[in-house]
Amino acid sequence: MYSKIAGTGAHLPERVLTNLDLERMMDTSDAWIRERTGIERRHIAADHETTVDLSEPAARRAIEAAGVRPEDIDFIAFGTTTPDYIFPNCGVLLQQRLGCRPGCPAFSIETACSGFLYALAIADKFVRAGDAQCALVVGSETLSRITDWADRATAVLFADGAGAVVLRPSAEPGIISTHLHADGTYKDTLYCPGGISRDTPVYAESQKVRAIRMAGNEVFKIAVTQLGKVVDEALAASGFDRSAVDWLVPHQANIRIIQATARKLELPMERVIVTVQEHGNTSTASVPLALDVGVRDGRIKRGDLLLLEAFGGGVTWGAALVRY
Ligand code: ACO
Repeated sequence: MYSKIAGTGAHLPERVLTNLDLERMMDTSDAWIRERTGIERRHIAADHETTVDLSEPAARRAIEAAGVRPEDIDFIAFGTTTPDYIFPNCGVLLQQRLGCRPGCPAFSIETACSGFLYALAIADKFVRAGDAQCALVVGSETLSRITDWADRATAVLFADGAGAVVLRPSAEPGIISTHLHADGTYKDTLYCPGGISRDTPVYAESQKVRAIRMAGNEVFKIAVTQLGKVVDEALAASGFDRSAVDWLVPHQANIRIIQATARKLELPMERVIVTVQEHGNTSTASVPLALDVGVRDGRIKRGDLLLLEAFGGGVTWGAALVRY
């Protein structure tokens, strides 16, 4: 028994912030942002829009594309770093919004940019075990809410959006393998101070702004190294050669990281789904957003072999080899 992606969906907030808009807000330039990151514009949620608000249309599109109904969903795994509440978790809130079957398990995963891959891996195991028949896997973020708009080194990178897939059981592969990793020794390279348990005067961080802090250069090097290893790991585990991969669907953090992973796979950029120029870094949402773009514009076809990968704060990273 395998799980298979039966449908994909995505949603972006209406408001677009271009590099030229950022030039007017801070000491930066369109040329610097394009050259260092590949980003040209990004979508930013309106003040009233939350992470669950963004996830709902993405989930509805995935459900429709899968040819099922919200009441068929029996498992919800929701990746996010920017939840609406401390609790209830975003999965539960989405379950109620969609009108899914009451009682179906719903939870959120908090592993920063690799959250969608973690959620996908967990949902895949439930479907394979026969414990879920119609699993909704979501990645949704309002990263603009934890962006320090006074820090040009990070403010130009992050953005908002949502993506989703529906997994169904299948006799044919599907999700072939998933590979998850974390290394807390790098916890200080990319983090967001604040939180709940440390929100006391004892901790100096509690006095700081609740915003992403990143040692960009260091994160860049760790990301390139670990993503290079994890894509090899995914291919080795399933016995596929690099040349068998039809599409790399990477986390959209930085075009240079994406190019490095493509080079490692000896894959021409024409076989990489790149949305970073349009979407910026939407963290957990970036992989399902890119997947949905590739599926809906017709590049990704049924039967194609996809390699999904992501790297995020923690640090955490992962990959999935998928027969679409
Ligand atoms: N505009 C103009 N100049 C800038 C900007 C900006 N927005 N930001 C930094 N600079 C300047 C710096 O001050 C520095 O100037 P100096 O040489 O006078 O000191 C110069 O540009 C170079 O800065 P670097 O930080 O060395 O630039 P780098 O080439 O490393 O690019 C970047 C920075 C884009 C952040 C890169 O390091 C990167 O992409 N890192 C990885 C990010 C990532 O993948 N994150 C993982 C996932 S995110 C998540 O999990 C939430």
